[in-house]
Amino acid sequence: MGSNEGKHNLIIVSNRLPLSIKRVDGTYESSISSGGLVTALSGLTKSTQFRWLGWPGIEVKSNKDREEVSRTLNEHDATPIFLDSGLAHEHYNMFANRILWPILHYQSGVVFDDGPWQAYRRVNELFAAAIAEAAETGTLIWVHDYHLMLLPELLRNRLYEKNKHCAIGFSLHTPFPAGDFWRNLPVRKHLLEGLLSSDLIGFHTDEYKQNFQDTCAKIPNQIRYKNRLVCVGKFIVGIDPQKFAHTLQNPDVQDRIRSLEERYKDVKVIVGVDRLDHIKGLTQKLKGFDSFLEDYPELRDKIILIQVAVPSREDVKEYQELETELSTLAGKINGKYATPDGTPLLYMHRSVPFTELTALYSVADVCLLTSTRDGMNLVSFEFVACQEKRQGVLVLSEFAGAASFMREGSISFHPANTTEMSEALYAALKLDPDERRRKYEYLRDFVNTHTSAKWGQTFIEKLSQRCRQPGKAC
Ligand code: ADP
Ligand code: F6P
Repeated sequence: MGSNEGKHNLIIVSNRLPLSIKRVDGTYESSISSGGLVTALSGLTKSTQFRWLGWPGIEVKSNKDREEVSRTLNEHDATPIFLDSGLAHEHYNMFANRILWPILHYQSGVVFDDGPWQAYRRVNELFAAAIAEAAETGTLIWVHDYHLMLLPELLRNRLYEKNKHCAIGFSLHTPFPAGDFWRNLPVRKHLLEGLLSSDLIGFHTDEYKQNFQDTCAKIPNQIRYKNRLVCVGKFIVGIDPQKFAHTLQNPDVQDRIRSLEERYKDVKVIVGVDRLDHIKGLTQKLKGFDSFLEDYPELRDKIILIQVAVPSREDVKEYQELETELSTLAGKINGKYATPDGTPLLYMHRSVPFTELTALYSVADVCLLTSTRDGMNLVSFEFVACQEKRQGVLVLSEFAGAASFMREGSISFHPANTTEMSEALYAALKLDPDERRRKYEYLRDFVNTHTSAKWGQTFIEKLSQRCRQPGKAC
């Protein structure tokens, strides 16, 4: 994966692999996985070589089929950890996405259930066994995200049994909530203990890091746990801006941009790209857009909101219900405001190819992101990376992790306040050109400075120091 600078023997572990495997007409097909984690780690591949271990996203029973899937993934330096479908369902859908994910994102009404929790433990154990087997003394093991919070502890025990000395890093790609909210989870102590067996723990923002430290009630940046020093830090995740710059040069993408510009020459384009997830505030976005159309009738035929809602976690009941709610809302808005000349909202519930996504970012005048909570939100970075020419405006919820770095370059609002959202959109559309340029340049500099490669290299360098000098103060 990427050019090998030969500096580190690195294993990346995440629940989701860079490729998702599906069975279609009796054969296995792979497609690039979507989501911020894959985007960030893929951006690291140019500069750093690593092996990537994770769940292939599908049950594969026979040895022959397992070999076929492993071969496909191995071509991308990824190694599958196979799980039975029942176990994977309980772990991924029922515990990680129905219990843990909502708590990490401050959603109330979560009902704890012991069955899924046991499955979560079991999957973390299976991961620990597979990784302890794959690692050698000196390997840096970098674990990602909330699906695997018990893994550092289980893995450390396994490595100890095998007499392998490795450093374990952990990065969380979601918020870490304030202690009082985290308390809602009855198994919180086990998860914290799991994490505290890491040598280095990374969060996206100071707020998440602080919440974690407050929960552990210890001194800044380092925690002593079972007589070991655990370092905690903020590592700003980003994208690979060059990938977007190159894609924008592609003649087919240029053609597509021209055709979209022609198609929308009389209107301002507002774009939104989000996984279909409660935390992205899509219901709030559509309601806020409805308010905007109500508040500024003179702009109704002068704008269009193109919203891509990428299908996600479709086996989880709450995600299915959200999809129904959104298509109903989208239908209502268009029913209310459509004229024979067009509709103000284009709602797409599907995944779009990377080239199309790039063209869409590039022709938009405004990007509207309404997360109610969001670890970082890399879509905001991608919009900026595609706007060198147009220098459009980012309208960003104050609850996205990215808002703590991008406030000065964007227009910020509270996603539950439809009036605020409507005013923020209006302000974006009417922004003075000099101010627009100033804001854009601020964002461009931030995105170009905080790349995924820099994020990864900084974390790996720090983890490597921990491996060499585990007792040294952080
Ligand atoms: P999250 O990690 O919660 O999904 P982010 O905004 O951080 O949110 O990241 C979403 C990522 O998914 C972005 O990098 C975006 O480009 C990517 N993405 C969106 N649509 C697709 C798609 N169809 N295929 C692959 N990746 C996609
Ligand atoms: O942002 C959190 C996250 O879990 C990422 O790690 C991942 O890229 C994204 O959400 C998509 O989630 P899933 O792996 O469930 O499709």
